[in-house]
Amino acid sequence: MTPQNPSERLIVALDTTDPEKAAGWAKATAPHVGLFKLGLEFFLANGALGYRGVQGRPIFLDLKLHDIPNTVAGAMRAVLALQPRMVTIHAAGGPAMIRAAREAAESAGQNRPLILAVTVLTSLDDTTLAGTGVPGGAAAQVLRLGQMALGSGADGLVCSPHEVAMLRQHLGPAAKLVVPGIRPAGADAGDQARTMTPAQAVEAGADWIVVGRPITTHANPGAAAAAIAASLP
Ligand code: C5P
Repeated sequence: MTPQNPSERLIVALDTTDPEKAAGWAKATAPHVGLFKLGLEFFLANGALGYRGVQGRPIFLDLKLHDIPNTVAGAMRAVLALQPRMVTIHAAGGPAMIRAAREAAESAGQNRPLILAVTVLTSLDDTTLAGTGVPGGAAAQVLRLGQMALGSGADGLVCSPHEVAMLRQHLGPAAKLVVPGIRPAGADAGDQARTMTPAQAVEAGADWIVVGRPITTHANPGAAAAAIAASLP
């Protein structure tokens, strides 16, 4: 799966437990975006029934799966009936877990979801990461886990704006890179520390960008999404 035009690069994060709110954002933004992202907050609150109520664009299911290979494979098979286009796993689960996720996804055939690996959570800085037993800094660990994930069957990575150029350079053009932490020029950064504009992220090598609150808290989410889509190269 590859974006066919600039607006298909835009993924809207529908972060809410309220299915009506999610459906409203989906309806308003669908003409201007490529996918909707549903994460743990929405999925744990509403399950498959709520998921099916979000219509208009394909779904990126951001579950960040991390367990033994057999369990991750079972979880992946369980969500295939919902036909998500992307599913996230934690690269730290290791090669066997990643291979198990990919093999399970393959059972959906041609329309299987892309497997995207999360490397180091951006909430961990170098010091905190060292406290978990990983010295050497986040950047090195991101690259190490990213290369391992792609070598084990992941299609791509979720990465932060400040990692995307480095990863594109090391991983080449085939790796799918999905980048959150995006803020349109002039928007409130919220709790995102290091942001890029939508255009900067694509120019740095992002295939898709993920935008949540700048769209969902905007007075007119459809117009906010349209403006971001129009700004993309
Ligand atoms: O509202 P905002 O644009 O910050 O939303 C970004 C989305 O991307 C959220 O769903 C968040 O969980 C996700 N995300 C992130 N940073 C990461 C990984 C995922 O903001 N490093």
